[in-house]
Amino acid sequence: MILVTGGAGFIGSNFVLDWLAQSAEPVLNLDDLTYAGNMQNLASLQADPRHVFVKGSIADGELLTKLLAQHQPRAVLNFAAESHVDRSIHGPEAFIQTNVVGTFKLLEAVRHYWAALPLEAKQTFKFLHVSTDEVYGSLSKDAPAFTEQHAYEPNSPYSASKAASDHLVRAYHHTYGLPVVTTNCSNNYGPLHFPEKLIPLMIVNALAGKPLPVYGDGMQVRDWLYVKDHCSALRRVLEAGRLGETYNVGGWNEMPNISIVNTVCNLLDELRPRADGKPYASQISYVTDRPGHDRRYAIDASKIERELGWKPAETFATGIRKTVAWYLANPEWVSHVQSGTYREWVQTQYAAA
Ligand code: NAD
Ligand code: TYD
Repeated sequence: MILVTGGAGFIGSNFVLDWLAQSAEPVLNLDDLTYAGNMQNLASLQADPRHVFVKGSIADGELLTKLLAQHQPRAVLNFAAESHVDRSIHGPEAFIQTNVVGTFKLLEAVRHYWAALPLEAKQTFKFLHVSTDEVYGSLSKDAPAFTEQHAYEPNSPYSASKAASDHLVRAYHHTYGLPVVTTNCSNNYGPLHFPEKLIPLMIVNALAGKPLPVYGDGMQVRDWLYVKDHCSALRRVLEAGRLGETYNVGGWNEMPNISIVNTVCNLLDELRPRADGKPYASQISYVTDRPGHDRRYAIDASKIERELGWKPAETFATGIRKTVAWYLANPEWVSHVQSGTYREWVQTQYAAA
């Protein structure tokens, strides 16, 4: 089996669902169910014996040692993280605890487990660390996109904590020979995305008749990838990625935020027009910029395309249409997230703990 950490979050749950749709290999899913972890995302797996869910933290070394010994995974994929830049500005400590200390504890537990494996299992084992393009910092308007050689220049507490975790992963390969591979992916979007991030926030606010807050001038550029394409890249890297290497993952799709927001509004105008006939774009509201806001991210994905033959299946036009359609088709998921009902499962399940 494989061990996935953070598999109740946005990308992790998409990964687990896709994995089990394509493979018979079971998944041990370790997630601490913070506000970002949502068991509703995994509801379709409730009766599936191939999905073993454990609530717990990657910072809990004892638990990790026990789970590794008990389940003997052939690979570990580390998605678990605090992931929202705005939250990292207001409260950076949780980011250090999970992204830095948590990754360290996970690496330690995995290192001891791996070192004691029989030779064949040891030779095929892999630790895949899921990271972000934000570790590279901000690009000027005409600078070439980030390659794997780009210097790390993180600017937010979030990106700094992810950069620290990437460095630890690298060091465990060089020092202990741990068979690691790291991916640095651009901004993801798609189903099951928590509506604190740009695209899902714009969809749910638009439908609720609320303002659509665009930071600063809205001309910050992000490079967007449909989440299922990120998942296919991770499966490919797990299968064939070279140990000790890093792979940038992206869809060559740079767009300013305001264009993203307008695209979402136009799709909603088409698929769920406002009762008063006005365009959703009339709800756009320019607000104070995020402190230290990175101006531009862009991924050069040549290496993963060349070495591993990976390419995204979706264009932005097809992916964003699927995404908007998914939110329109899943009002219950949205309302449970907004009302906090999705967290009741945690309370009920662990009431006695
Ligand atoms: P998310 O915030 O939606 O999910 C994170 C998950 O980790 C949640 O289920 C949460 O409960 C869990 N978690 C948090 N702390 C934990 C801990 N201490 N132990 C165990 N579980 C814990 O994040 P996401 O958007 O799904 O991102 C997943 C990974 O991908 C992160 O490492 C992130 O840095 C990386 N990434 C995200 C993006 C993006 O656009 N969202 C892009 C590139 C890379
Ligand atoms: P976000 O989804 O938070 O991802 P990240 O900061 O990791 O790139 O934000 C994407 C972009 O959208 C970023 O430039 C900040 C901007 N943004 C807004 O303009 N308004 C918002 O309400 C949010 C959440 C983000």
